Amino acid sequence: MSLLDAARAVREMAYVPYSRFKVGAAIRGASGAVYRGCNVENVAYPEGTCAEAGAIAAMVAGGETELIEVAVIADSPSPVPPCGGCRQKLAEFGRHDTPVLLATTEGATLATTVGELLPGRFDAGHMAKAE
Ligand code: THU
Repeated sequence: MSLLDAARAVREMAYVPYSRFKVGAAIRGASGAVYRGCNVENVAYPEGTCAEAGAIAAMVAGGETELIEVAVIADSPSPVPPCGGCRQKLAEFGRHDTPVLLATTEGATLATTVGELLPGRFDAGHMAKAE
């Protein structure tokens, strides 16, 4: 199964009673294992979590901290862009050139990278004077 098909499958599990907007994400760790996540909303709206965050949590729980490929899919008019917070989360575990495939359920895709999604990211180097 392709990474995009894994994202497509887990999207069906999304818990979205408030937005009705299902998102699926799949991440390939450096080991080759695939980790999946879907969005999980909450009646206290800010407590909801994005599909990408779920996939990242599954990867870390699986013992990996390096992602080498990402796929995200939703039923959107154009390939679904990760939110700002998820871009920072992806940047924590990916490299500048790590491929990210954004997709619609109808077949449109946009190939990008972690670095393109978050230029000028905050990283540990910015805390160099904090010790
Ligand atoms: N959402 C994601 O899960 N990932 C994205 O990349 C964009 C937005 C979710 C959050 C919320 O459950 C719903 O989509 C509407 O914002």
